[in-house]
Amino acid sequence: MTGTVVIDCQLGDAGKGKVIDWILSQGGYSACVRFNGGPNAGHTVKVGDKTYKFHQLPSGVLHNDIYSIIGNGCVIDPAGIEYELAQLEKEGIKPILKVSDRAHVILPWHVLEDMYLGELRRKNAGLKPTEMGSLTSSTTGRGIGPCYADKSSRIGIRVEDLSDYDRLKAKLAFLASLKEPYLKILGRPVDPEPESIERLADRLYMFGLSWEDSISDTGQFLNDALKRGKKVLFEGAQSVHLDIDSGVYPYSTSSTCVAAGASSGTGISPKYLSEIIGVVKAYTSRAGDGAFPTELRDERADVLRELGKEYGTTTGKPRRVGFLDLVMVKTAVEMNGVDVLALTRMDTLTEFGRSQEMTRIPVCKAYEFKGRTITRFPTMNMLSFMQPVYDYPQGWDEYIRYVEHYLGIPVRFVGTGPERNDIEERKP
Ligand code: IMP
Repeated sequence: MTGTVVIDCQLGDAGKGKVIDWILSQGGYSACVRFNGGPNAGHTVKVGDKTYKFHQLPSGVLHNDIYSIIGNGCVIDPAGIEYELAQLEKEGIKPILKVSDRAHVILPWHVLEDMYLGELRRKNAGLKPTEMGSLTSSTTGRGIGPCYADKSSRIGIRVEDLSDYDRLKAKLAFLASLKEPYLKILGRPVDPEPESIERLADRLYMFGLSWEDSISDTGQFLNDALKRGKKVLFEGAQSVHLDIDSGVYPYSTSSTCVAAGASSGTGISPKYLSEIIGVVKAYTSRAGDGAFPTELRDERADVLRELGKEYGTTTGKPRRVGFLDLVMVKTAVEMNGVDVLALTRMDTLTEFGRSQEMTRIPVCKAYEFKGRTITRFPTMNMLSFMQPVYDYPQGWDEYIRYVEHYLGIPVRFVGTGPERNDIEERKP
């Protein structure tokens, strides 16, 4: 059994990229596969004085002796992938890329729909405009939700369509007939120079041509590799609490982020998934809207944000920050069958504690609601009523032991600093 799944057990940005890069550097894996999401993701890997930021390529892409695969559960922006590949090429890194013929393609309409619909949704929910006055506050603005919506409606463009010009053009023309009136309803001003269907089709067809060797039935490739005993790492983008079904709907993303997505989002049998590694940051951060029980609402938030450099890799926006919420993490651990944990940013939390002269750092162990104790992460409608109940472990070792005891699983990796190798492996 050779499939390792790595997922974020919080709300994104726990540090999966670095953990995945470290696991792969220990050797033995033949492929790293993304199974969900698209350019809404952002992983940062720091190597010496170089910082690599990826949005669509799998985090294993710096290991160019293994396959980097974009699975069928992903949505892709072809121009963005080309850009990331070009950046890597400048550094002399040429990944062996495979892209699923079943992945869906993000189109210009999706990005516009995301922006206009996002703003209308915020207004409808009575939320204030963001401090940046941006249209894209409720999402990363990358067209993710509308692309998955078209996939579910079965009108989307798949990667396989890029290699058949006539079919591609006909599908795009059909989509234009639906999208143009819809975008007007959403409030889009009339574009004096809209991109013609021909130009869009030409552009996409060119990607199809240049990726001809990479596009394939990656599900079959992976099943064959796993059958032969090859080790594969499955990378979940976003986080399990951003999952479309089990996550913080409607503040979630639109893909399947839970561990089960490693099977449905790549086309492999779930029987091959043998180990689930959960990544948890030693505190909590959140990029988007929605209730956040352990959020810091005073000047300590600024201190933690600065120490942790909590700014979106994709959007650059400041993240909301707060104490570790173990109710949230435990629910993720149970839902996904997490075997071991990677606890990242212990160094940041320790520094934060020092800066505040706190010898004990609060950890949320339950919520209180109308005199009842709640230990399961609820739906978003209920989450805003939850009052956090804290315990206060003292020092680094006690903090880690507390997390292990609460969750009933070992912390195998601890993040100790920003560099690629700043990870400590704890032996059982
Ligand atoms: P979307 O995925 O762009 O539709 O955004 C939906 C929600 O998920 C927003 O609150 C985003 O901030 C959040 N989100 C999406 N991708 C990530 C990620 O990789 N890290 C953290 N939050 C994310």
